[in-house]
Amino acid sequence: MKLTVFSAKSYDRTALDAANEDRGHEISYLEARLDADTAGLAEGSDAICIFVNDEAKDGIVDRLADVGVKGIALRCAGFNNVELEPAQRRGIRVVRVPAYSPHAVAEHTLGLILALNRKLHRAYSRVREHNFELRGLLGFDLHGKTVGVIGTGRIGIEVCRILKGFGCTVLAYDLFPNDEVKQLGCEYVELDRLFRESRIITLHCPLTPETHHLINADAIEKMRDDVMIVNASRGAVIETPAAIEGLKSRKIGHLALDVYEEEEVFFEDVSNEVLQDDMLARLLTFPNVLVTGHQAFFTAEALGNIAETTLANIDDLAADRDCPNEVKA
Ligand code: NAI
Repeated sequence: MKLTVFSAKSYDRTALDAANEDRGHEISYLEARLDADTAGLAEGSDAICIFVNDEAKDGIVDRLADVGVKGIALRCAGFNNVELEPAQRRGIRVVRVPAYSPHAVAEHTLGLILALNRKLHRAYSRVREHNFELRGLLGFDLHGKTVGVIGTGRIGIEVCRILKGFGCTVLAYDLFPNDEVKQLGCEYVELDRLFRESRIITLHCPLTPETHHLINADAIEKMRDDVMIVNASRGAVIETPAAIEGLKSRKIGHLALDVYEEEEVFFEDVSNEVLQDDMLARLLTFPNVLVTGHQAFFTAEALGNIAETTLANIDDLAADRDCPNEVKA
C-alpha cells in the first residue's frame, strides 16, 4: 500500500521503517502537519498516517477523498482530531492504535506528580547555579494522601496500581467502573466527592463532548485548597483560563500538564521565535506549573508498538478485511 506519513519525525521514520521491513508498504514521510493546505500532498497515496496534532476535519476529509485516500491510520490512541462521519460517508476507513504502552503514560504521570511535589524542576536549575538552599522546595509525602483518578481505562488502571504502591487512598471516577480497579482497593465515587476529597486529581479519560472542559471554574471551586491537578489525557479536558485563575488565587497548588488545549507549538522547536500563545506563556511563568510537550507516550517500547500496530492496521486496509482497531462514527 502507498502510505503518506504526516508530521513525521526522525523517530517515527525509524520505528515505521523497522516495522515495515517484512511488509514492503511504500511509505513516504512528510514533515508537514495535515491541514487544509497540505491535504493535497496525499495525492497518489492509498492511505495516510497521522498523529495527534494533524487535523482530519470535515473539509480536509473531503479533500483527502478527492485525491484518492481510502484510509486514515492514526498512530495514537485518541481520535478526537478526526471527523468520523464525513470519513465514513466518503468511504475512508479510520484505524488507530488503542493501546501501545499504558505504562509509558502512567509512569510519566507519576513522574510529573513526583517532580512537581518535590520541586525537582526547580531543584535541578538551582543546584546547577550552585544554590543549595532548600527554602521553596518543601513537598509532601504521597503516602497516605487521597488521589482522584478520572478515567480508569488502560492508563488509569496502571496509575491506580502505582499509586496504591505509594500507599495512597485512591478515589476513582469512570462511566464504566472496572472490577480490577476495585480489587486494587480503589473506591469509585461521584465526581463531586472526588473533587472535594482529593489532594491530587489526575485525568485519564478521553476528550469527548462530555469531558470537554470537565475541569472548569465550577469544578475547581469544589476542590480542596492547594489541590494538585495533573493532565496527561487531552488538553481540552481542562479549561485553561479557569486553571490560570485557580493558580492565581492559589486554589490550585500545583498543575502538571503533558497536554494543553492549544498544542500549536508542541513537537516543534520554537526556541528562536516569539511565543504567540499568551495562555501558554502565562502558564510557564508559574513556579508551581510543570509542562511537558505531550511526551507521556514517548518510550522506546511505545514507539515500537505504535509502529507495529499501525502497519498491522495498514495490512488490514490493504487486504480490505476487518480491522479490530477501526473506529466508526
Ligand atoms: P481507555 O479507552 O482505555 O480508557 C478511557 C477511560 O475513560 C474508559 O474507562 C472510559 O470509560 C473512561 N471515560 C470515558 N468518558 C468518560 C467520562 N465522561 N468521565 C469519566 N470517564 C470516562 O483509554 P486509555 O488508553 O486509558 O487512554 C486515556 C486517554 O489518554 C486517551 O483517550 C488519550 O486521550 C490520552 N492519552 C494521552 C497520551 C499522552 O502521551 N499524553 C498517550 C495516550 C493516551
